[in-house]
Amino acid sequence: MFGDSRRTVVVVGSQWGDEGKGKLVDVLAERAAWVVRYQGGANAGHTVDLGDSTFVLHQIPSGILHPGVRCAIGNGVVLDPDQLFEEIDGLVKDGIDVEGRLYVSDRAHLVLPYHKLVDAESSASKAIGTTGRGIGPAYEDKVARRGVRVLDLRNKDRLRELVTQGADHANAQLGRFKSDKRVRVEDTLALLDKLAGRLLPLAEDVGLMVHRAIKSGAAVLLEGAQGSLLDVDHGTYPYVTSSNTTSGGAAVGAGIAPTAIDAVLGVVKAYTTRVGGGPLPTEMDEALAEQTRKLGNEYGATTGRPRRCGWFDAVVVRYAARINGLTDLAVTKLDVLDTFEKIALCSAYEIDGELHHEFPADLTALERATPKYEWLPGWKRSTADARRIEDLPDEARRYLDRMRELVETPITYVSVGTRRDQIIGL
Ligand code: IMP
Ligand code: MG
Repeated sequence: MFGDSRRTVVVVGSQWGDEGKGKLVDVLAERAAWVVRYQGGANAGHTVDLGDSTFVLHQIPSGILHPGVRCAIGNGVVLDPDQLFEEIDGLVKDGIDVEGRLYVSDRAHLVLPYHKLVDAESSASKAIGTTGRGIGPAYEDKVARRGVRVLDLRNKDRLRELVTQGADHANAQLGRFKSDKRVRVEDTLALLDKLAGRLLPLAEDVGLMVHRAIKSGAAVLLEGAQGSLLDVDHGTYPYVTSSNTTSGGAAVGAGIAPTAIDAVLGVVKAYTTRVGGGPLPTEMDEALAEQTRKLGNEYGATTGRPRRCGWFDAVVVRYAARINGLTDLAVTKLDVLDTFEKIALCSAYEIDGELHHEFPADLTALERATPKYEWLPGWKRSTADARRIEDLPDEARRYLDRMRELVETPITYVSVGTRRDQIIGL
């Protein structure tokens, strides 16, 4: 991905999340100087398998597993400080040196206990199937201009004012939900007081640091969380997360200019999954979904929920290619399909008797959509040891070729297993 003219690269999920961004970022970080997370929060679960150990990262960029790579949490992230320190301590315990190479944007908003409480107690959150990590309520406060930013920890009076405002609002909401739980301003302030001493030394103007790194010619990765179809503007609204997961959000959320971005790598699974509610047009019947879930270990890395499974949807990914300006595609988990007799690709939807090639914005139209499938023969042998494209069976290459044609984006990586080395570069 990196070259003389490609120094700043976005890695973006191009389905409904869990495409394997963590693995791709880990592979690419070997050649990067910086990795920056630009949106979302502890709702993400990025799994990286190093062979003898597996790491699940929620907020810290996957680049942290490469010594010497600097990692930053951008202003677009809603940061849960409690979770952050738990994550740092876990990494340190596993022998990863974090000291001096992890930064947090001082403009990032904080996820506070009352955000998590509101998320947990809200029936609307339950209907969407949120992760319960307080993400929606924290972004709500941000947009409503009553959020608490990292830099507010530097001023105790201001912090008290903001937390009082936030807690009042949360308590009013809890009252409307008929919940008997309430938050106490003093508890929140005590927690923040405990955490500030550790958080403030990490706080920096991340946008400025990344800008300087780019100017000096450094390779910079911007790491997305969730997927394009969970983007608050472009996803299956209201069954979305509360941030811009797409590449446009990368500039805003890292604090750099859009013109600084040189390339965008879209990560897709060789099939489709989604956790939580909302449309999934190519959803498999439960027997096949169960088989795929077992083979692909499709359980949420953050919540442990079983993921819903479907065939590869080229309407979705072609849409994601357009919205993100994908320059490259990484196809992951091809090996999960190794035992399948035949494999389907969705190339269009039929809605009310009409053929649609573009992804509709209206959820009710999506609910009526019947996928148009192309069936391809399976390869029925293991691809786990393939390291060059020539090592793949003809049927697998045909499947990838058809995917590339339908999505109109070149495939640059094919991943054939969870381990770092199980990847083919094209
Ligand atoms: P929230 O981000 O917790 O508010 O959840 C909103 C929706 O996004 C729910 O359907 C979640 O299941 C989904 N979601 C959030 N984070 C992830 C993720 O990392 N992978 C997959 N789905 C996610
Ligand atoms: Mg995940």
